[in-house]
Amino acid sequence: MHYSDFGLSNTKTLLKRALRDGYAVPAFNFYNMETLDAILTAAQITQSPVILAVSEDALEYMGADILMGMIRGAKYKRGQIALHLDHGHSFEICKYATDLGFSSVMFDGSALPLEQNISESRRIADYVHKQDVSLETELGILSGTEDKNTKSLVHSYTDPSIVKNFVKQTQTDSLAVAIGTSHGVYKRKSANESLRFDILTQIANNIPNVPLVLHGASNIPQKYIKQINKFGGNIKNAYGFSPVQIRRAISLHIAKVNVDSDSRLAFTAAVRKTLNQNPSIFNPRDYLLKAKDEMTKNCIDEIQNIMGSGYKI
Ligand code: G3H
Ligand code: 13P
Ligand code: ZN
Repeated sequence: MHYSDFGLSNTKTLLKRALRDGYAVPAFNFYNMETLDAILTAAQITQSPVILAVSEDALEYMGADILMGMIRGAKYKRGQIALHLDHGHSFEICKYATDLGFSSVMFDGSALPLEQNISESRRIADYVHKQDVSLETELGILSGTEDKNTKSLVHSYTDPSIVKNFVKQTQTDSLAVAIGTSHGVYKRKSANESLRFDILTQIANNIPNVPLVLHGASNIPQKYIKQINKFGGNIKNAYGFSPVQIRRAISLHIAKVNVDSDSRLAFTAAVRKTLNQNPSIFNPRDYLLKAKDEMTKNCIDEIQNIMGSGYKI
């Protein structure tokens, strides 16, 4: 099926407007009915465009039929929502998502030798563009040890001197950059650690018309860490970059901001609190509803206080 049959937009369209008007479209990851509903409810309340991000693992977890069934049944405005493959690692998975009805794919060739990253990205661009599906690619490596798909112990910043040629050769629609963020909840080692705005500025100067993407952009709200630990969890030394720093990145051509860990924390904090305070409940709907509501609240908060994407549809 083609994504337009689902009333979805591609990310090229959404990000072009965001870059022009100086805000970022949030890409929130989801993995089930509750997390999808949380994102769509937040999008509806804030009247924000939103990118629904599905990792390879999340696609496998939900299964294509259930995932696309949920998208078919979901309520959103035409022009508001993109369905995006997050961190696709092969031509085959990007093709598969495109053919299912995704409107956007990311090919993450960041760990490949540059020439191979370019040739694979271009091969995927040629396929997805025929169906007007958008392509995001990545240069530079983000560290992070949380997830199988994004696991990397090494880190290298994006080299601003190669971005122009990379975009030209790959025909990518947007570019994910490495400027100091990382995946997961352990993002910074000291309170005064800063993102590399100098690198971001050079990248933006070299490719001013290309929307840039910030992965690993959760800010790790400390209230959720505290709540998780208070009710039986054990997450220590987990810090992200402040909303002030993310907003500054948005002012420097970041037009798509990826958030997954914050949603996981909101969801888990609510589950732990609900079960802990109500030891006799055993109906999953009781705690899943609380978790969904908390994730919705956090998505709304990030749309309003970080992304600036409210009322942009
Ligand atoms: O950056 C990747 C996302 O956090 C996806 O994580 O592969 O565990 O679904 P996942
Ligand atoms: P976080 O782990 O910071 O939420 O990053 C999510 C992400 O980059 C998804 O692609
Ligand atoms: Zn990512």
